[in-house]
Amino acid sequence: MELLFLADEQEDMIDKYINRGMMFILDDNGIKAECVVTDEGNGILEIKNIATNPKFQGIGYGKILINFLATKYKNQFFTLQVGTGESSATIGFYVKCGFSRSHIIKNFFTDNYDHLIYEDGIQLVDMIYLHRAL
Ligand SMILES: CC(C)(COP(=O)(O)OP(=O)(O)OC[C@H]1O[C@@H](n2cnc3c(N)ncnc32)[C@H](O)[C@@H]1OP(=O)(O)O)[C@@H](O)C(=O)NCCC(=O)NCCS
Repeated sequence: MELLFLADEQEDMIDKYINRGMMFILDDNGIKAECVVTDEGNGILEIKNIATNPKFQGIGYGKILINFLATKYKNQFFTLQVGTGESSATIGFYVKCGFSRSHIIKNFFTDNYDHLIYEDGIQLVDMIYLHRAL
């Protein structure tokens, strides 16, 4: 739960995907990272939540999870997509993992969350989608 909340701080937003999603845990002498993916139809697999334990960030666990998904699902889906706020930290991570920008949902964070969301001191407003071919 701590890791889920690290990536998505509002529980009722997590409730929208957790029951139809598939969760993966990266266990390397203890849980280091997790992700949740959903089938969005039309050959699209979406990462709804991904987080690495803050003590172990920046040493490759997130990328291992992404590459695990790409290998596991390459014969079942065409595209791996993810939506995130306009945060250079998370977008930088996804770009390093082979994603590029695809589209934007305007005002996603302000329309769907019951409080303002900030990351690195910047308010998140639009949802930025990135994708990677499988
Ligand atoms: C985003 C997150 C999952 C990345 O996981 P991680 O395990 O720290 O990432 P990795 O160590 O596997 O990094 C993979 C690559 O991305 C790069 N990277 C990681 N964070 C980055 C950042 N903030 N800016 C630029 N590049 C970054 C790494 O340098 C690495 O590059 P390399 O392959 O050239 O060495 C992690 O920072 C996290 O849990 N953040 C909080 C939760 C969150 O915001 N989740 C995303 C919600 S959309």
